[in-house]
Order: sequence, then structure tokens, then C-alpha cells
Amino acid sequence: MKKILAIETSCDECAASVVTGGSAPGSVRVLSNAIFSQVDLHSKFGGIVPEVASRNHLEMINAVIDEALTKAGVSLKDLSAIAVTNGPGLIGALLVGVSAAKAIAMELGIPLIAVNHLDGHLHSIFIEGQERCPTPESAMLPMLTCLVSGGHTNLYLITELPPGGLKAVKLSESRDDAAGEAFDKTAKLMGLPYPGGIHIDRLARKGKRDAIDFPIGLPGRTNIEFSFSGLKTSVLTELKKRGYTPHVFGDVDASKLPQDRELADFCASIQETIVGTLVRKIKIAIDQTGAKSLALVGGVSANSRLRELLAEKIKVRILTPDSTYCTDNAAMIGAAAFFAKESLTGSELLKLNAYSS
Ligand code: KG4
Ligand code: ZN
Repeated sequence: MKKILAIETSCDECAASVVTGGSAPGSVRVLSNAIFSQVDLHSKFGGIVPEVASRNHLEMINAVIDEALTKAGVSLKDLSAIAVTNGPGLIGALLVGVSAAKAIAMELGIPLIAVNHLDGHLHSIFIEGQERCPTPESAMLPMLTCLVSGGHTNLYLITELPPGGLKAVKLSESRDDAAGEAFDKTAKLMGLPYPGGIHIDRLARKGKRDAIDFPIGLPGRTNIEFSFSGLKTSVLTELKKRGYTPHVFGDVDASKLPQDRELADFCASIQETIVGTLVRKIKIAIDQTGAKSLALVGGVSANSRLRELLAEKIKVRILTPDSTYCTDNAAMIGAAAFFAKESLTGSELLKLNAYSS
């Protein structure tokens, strides 16, 4: 059975994983999933600093690859191919993973599989052993997939599944900010640490969802595109209206920002707006396409309210990865590579316009 070492360094997670074939056709088994998160490094800047990210990837990449191999109980000679995220992402960060992958593939003389990061997220539901993704057959076709992360908010219609290959058509995207970006940027305005999505999710549990009325972007009844940049401005305006000084740079001055109950109300209202928008657009897209199942992937798919509201409002079967495979990881890159038809050599990858988006 082939074993693939996958590497992911597109953003602030330095990750490596060894995957092999799963027990059901179209599924992948994860033998190891090593990850070093740089969140603590970037948190004090309120967002990702690309140069800090690439330097840290360079420091960590060998150790993370070693950990993945050791945990999987395999050595380099057992590998059949190397997979690596080759975009989209931060160019310096990508370069570290791609260079490491090319070096290993060239030295071992095995194929190199270049994986699009978004393709990785789309394949995260085919990793076996996940609670809400029992088998690939549970993805009934056509399947709508909502990819919600820090960089993207895209809807796809999936018409074919692995092992034959995933066939996905993009239906829509965000015209401006991604949903995760909306969580992170509004959280920052309220002085919450980066990345803000998980903090808003937690604090929102004690707040009133209708405390503040934020606008929904592109509310047309048939519109499945997204827009979240207006929300940022509305949060800024609401904070100022209440006499607060929204946090932008430097140290957080808590005395100038909402606390306790009011902070929870802000979080619950922001979250309800983002999540409500996502669910509304997903519903329209299901009606328009006749989708029989829904996959929700990417970092924001870990949001507890989003999962709750979807379960309430969406009638088709919903597949969501376990939280480990929602946020960036290398196992999903391995899953995409496992069913990829094309493989390259290190020098072929050099010729690709790998960093175009
Ligand atoms: O998929 P991911 O790890 O990286 C990208 O490819 O962008 O997604 C990261 C995003 C961040 O914006 C983060 O705030 C968001 O996912 N996120 C959440 C939650 N957990 C992570 N957003 C809302 N609620 C959560 N529980
Ligand atoms: Zn991602």
C-alpha cells in the first residue's frame, strides 16, 4: 500500500503527515499528523507576519517531518511519494515546504505531488475515522461544499468523488473578506487575541445574539456570493458609538473596550451575522443546485454555532471534518495527493507557476 509524506507550510502551521489508503474506497488513513502552530509567535502582532512565518517554518520543518515519520513508524525508504502544498499561501512560507519536499523527492527518486491548499481542504472529509464523515459514500452527489477559512469563503458543487478523482465546480466566493478574516478582524477591534474566531466562538456562548443588529452582506434572495467587509466597519462604528476606542495597533487598553456581558453580546451578534450569512447562502445554493449533501470544511467549520444552525436549518446530510482536520494540517494535503492523477519530479515543479495566487 502506498505511503505518502505530505507537507503543509502555506500559512502559520508547519505540518507534516504520513497517509496511506483507508479501508473504504475513496478514504485515506492517517498514520501521523505532526503540526507546529506559530499562533503564539504572531499573536502579539494581531495577525500573521509573513517574514516571521517563513523564518519559523525554516527552523521547524525538519523536526516536524521527523516527528511525522517517527509517529507513523516509517522511514524515508518506505515512502512512495512526497506531497506538498504549492499554493495559494504566503510565498516565503510555501517556499520552505516546497524546497523541503523537492529535496526529499529528488534524493529518494520518488514522485512529487503538488497540491493546491484549497483542494486539501476539500479532501479533508475523506480522512477515515471521523465522527461526521463516516464513509465516502455518505457524501451523496451532487454535494455542495462550503470552504470557510481565514483566506476563503467559497461554494463548490462536487459531482464526482475519490478514488476516481474529486470533480468540483466553484459556484461562488467572497467579493472581499473571507468569513475567518471577518472573525479575526472584528475580534482584533475588540482587543481579542489572534486568531479571533475561536475566542468569539467561546465568548458568544454567554451573549445575546440579537443584542446588536449588524448588516448582512449581499442579502439578495438568490445571491450566493459573500461579502464580509461591511461587518468590520459596522463593528468599528458600533464600538465608537458606545464611547469605546477600537483596538488597532499596540497594546490592548482594556479600559477602552467592552468587557464581560457587553463583550459577550458583541461576540454573539457578530458570530450570528457571519454564521447566519453562511447558512442563508448555503440554503439558497442547495435549492438552486438540488445538492443532496453538504460538506463544510476549513477553519471556520469548527465554529460551534455554525454547526448548530446548519443542523437546524439544512435538511440534507452534513459532513464536517473533526476539528483537527478543519484548520490547516498536512493530512488533508496527503488525502488530496492520494487521489491525484498527476505527479511531478522536483525539477518539473520548478517550472510550474506555483505561486500565482
Ligand atoms: O483553514 P484555516 O486553518 O486556515 C486558512 O486556510 O485560512 O482557517 C483559519 C481560520 C481563522 O480565521 C480562524 O479564526 C478560524 O479559521 N477559526 C474559527 C474557529 N476556529 C478557527 N472561526 C470561528 N470559530 C471557530 N471555532
Ligand atoms: Zn487552510
